[in-house]
Amino acid sequence: MTKDGIRIYEDADFAGMHAAGRVAAEILDLVGPLVVPGVTTEALDDFITAEVTRRGVTSATIGYRGYQHASCISVNHVVCHGIPGGKVIKDGDILNIDVTVIVDGWFGDTSRMYAAGSLSRKAARLIEVTHDSLMKGIEAVKPGNTFGDIGYAIQSYVEAQRMSVVRDFCGHGLGRVFHAPPNVLHYGRPGAGAVLEEGMFFTIEPMVNLGRPETKVLADDWTAVTRDKSLSAQYEHSIGVTATGAEIFTLSPGGLYKAAFAG
Ligand code: MF3
Ligand code: CO
Ligand code: CO
Repeated sequence: MTKDGIRIYEDADFAGMHAAGRVAAEILDLVGPLVVPGVTTEALDDFITAEVTRRGVTSATIGYRGYQHASCISVNHVVCHGIPGGKVIKDGDILNIDVTVIVDGWFGDTSRMYAAGSLSRKAARLIEVTHDSLMKGIEAVKPGNTFGDIGYAIQSYVEAQRMSVVRDFCGHGLGRVFHAPPNVLHYGRPGAGAVLEEGMFFTIEPMVNLGRPETKVLADDWTAVTRDKSLSAQYEHSIGVTATGAEIFTLSPGGLYKAAFAG
């Protein structure tokens, strides 16, 4: 069944999404201690690939539109889709690690921020505001509210902190597929957009910049950076709309949101 082109899943499907989301979130828990000055982004991705393999699940990103890695790792002014490679993480760097796995046909997509070594106050503030903006977006999720309500909750909070919301990338429906309708915008007006209905599955994944919101994609066709080189942060959860609100499929089993960026 669909509503406004958005698939409506069955009650029983929540369990599949929960299992997939949990695997992705567990891997993000486990990679945290490896994020230290001197590590390469490739080494972090190799660890993630090994964890995916060890669990007998599938990476959704390896082979996706020619992408060849089990994670995207986006450091400092990289907004999203950073490609793991030889880049050495240094003291004070902040990075987003984004992992998507397929478990029994269900997609679990989540990302989190990490810090290597000492964290500047402004970076810590950016990370905190970004995480809080995601949770405020999720708080706006319930049947009868709209996607515009989600975007408005995120944007109004972020801009009140004098930071900016990236417009060029958005969240997405997912479930038995990686990217499906709708585009979940992280900005918007109350009451705008499609109405939320129980059984919709999608991601919310706000990218927040300390400077201006504009981005550009580098010549590798993946890496998105802030045009003004300002720091950028992102958190992502996969969620399902329930009768009364949202079920978050990708919560950290270890509750590691704060620990992950203590370094
Ligand atoms: N996980 C990303 C998202 O949140 C998509 C990454 S696609 C890749 O939608 F190919 F770059 F890995
Ligand atoms: Co996503
Ligand atoms: Co993702």
